[in-house]
Amino acid sequence: MAAGLGTRMRSKRAKVLHELGGAPLIAHVVRAAQALDPKTILVVVGHQAEEVEQAALAEVGELASFAVQAKQRGTGDAVESARDRLEASDSLVLVLSGDVPLIKVETLRKFIEHHQNARADCSILSVRLENPTGYGRIIRDANGAVQKIVEQRDANEEQRQVKEINSGIYCFDAKKLYGALRNVEPANDQGEYYLTDVPEIILRDGGTVSVFLHNDSREVSGINTRAELAEFENLIRRTAIRKLMIDGGVTFIDPSHAYISAEAEIGRDSIIHPNVTIEGKTIVGEGCVIRSGVRITNSRLGDAVVVKDHSIIVDSQIESNCAVGPFAHLRMNAVLEEKANVGNFVEVKKSRLKRGTKAMHLTYLGDATIGERTNIGAGTVTCNFDGRNKNETIIEDDVKIGSDTMLVAPVRVGARSVTGAGSVVTRDVPPDSLVAGVPAEVKKKLSRG
Ligand code: UD1
Ligand code: CA
Repeated sequence: MAAGLGTRMRSKRAKVLHELGGAPLIAHVVRAAQALDPKTILVVVGHQAEEVEQAALAEVGELASFAVQAKQRGTGDAVESARDRLEASDSLVLVLSGDVPLIKVETLRKFIEHHQNARADCSILSVRLENPTGYGRIIRDANGAVQKIVEQRDANEEQRQVKEINSGIYCFDAKKLYGALRNVEPANDQGEYYLTDVPEIILRDGGTVSVFLHNDSREVSGINTRAELAEFENLIRRTAIRKLMIDGGVTFIDPSHAYISAEAEIGRDSIIHPNVTIEGKTIVGEGCVIRSGVRITNSRLGDAVVVKDHSIIVDSQIESNCAVGPFAHLRMNAVLEEKANVGNFVEVKKSRLKRGTKAMHLTYLGDATIGERTNIGAGTVTCNFDGRNKNETIIEDDVKIGSDTMLVAPVRVGARSVTGAGSVVTRDVPPDSLVAGVPAEVKKKLSRG
């Protein structure tokens, strides 16, 4: 169920599109469903249906299909909107809520097994909460048998004392579910069709309802407000960092001020300084040092890489023993081969620096391929944009680019050549040549070696 706006988020965006740990809430839920190997994952969409569909498809592909609930008239109505797809099937229907993202696959497996063993028509996954405010309560009779679910706002004083709550996760026999849904009335405080009325109706019609009491309440807490979203984010982050410290042998100077995605991998003996953000599917090797204020997104770092303060690395690759920063910016598949060095205020876009090459100060390298052991002087710019197209710069091995050289692309600088300070290189430079001036011209041939 993912059709609601989520009024309590006070947002223009549908709640299930808000991100947790770098992925929209709906992605977490369909990912858990996918792991159960279902016939199909039917996502009920309404608010911003198209974006929600995209988010689900991006996560599980064609396994996801969609039922549209045009008007959000309650969770019962949400399930109703999939009637023609499910009513006649012999399937077991597992209902998940789009705003309960931390549910574990293991728990769902146990829950389904419980449902099957109990031969129930309906099973409810419940937990006990010290503070059950806001949740539907599981009402049992004197013998402990479940009678119904009562929503917080429809509950009387006595019912509100009940600490066992409905997680919003259910198993149903499809036919029983859709039979009972016909009898759900919007006779409640919100005037909505509640899915939570279905268990009582099934019981009334002589069916069986069972409750699976789970022991980890955090897994099933729903996100209704931004405050809860932030709490969850914090929980995910702390869990990931703790795991990296305990199992992964990673040092965090201040774990409470590190922001590491759950998908990131960091090798042992790496040291993460305060205020580092590592996002997406980033891999950091062993023995790396990541200094303060660094952001690394969807990138791969080898071993013993040092990233100095306030550098940004996005969609890029850095091999072992490289140094980057401070204040460097690598993006769009920048590649640094082993022992390459990119220093202060250097931007590298869609460029490769081969082994041992250095660009230490105030430089822009875009659409460039730079050979081995080359030195790029301070203030060098690859002038890659002619106003219309992006053009390539190629610099071969063992070149010395003088400070403040402008390389007007497309252009190639041959191996072992030197450009004088302030050169504007508009034509290809042959190998073993010294060029200088505006525009740069060959001043002399250099002897090899
Ligand atoms: C629901 C349960 C409550 C339970 C709680 C657990 C009902 C009536 N109540 O309350 O017993 O304790 O979850 O988290 O079911 N949705 C739709 N269409 C709608 C309404 C909702 O798709 O018309 C979706 C929402 O997008 C959301 C999910 O269903 O993903 C739950 O809806 P929400 O309004 O958050 O229900 P709660 O009030 O939390
Ligand atoms: Ca909710």
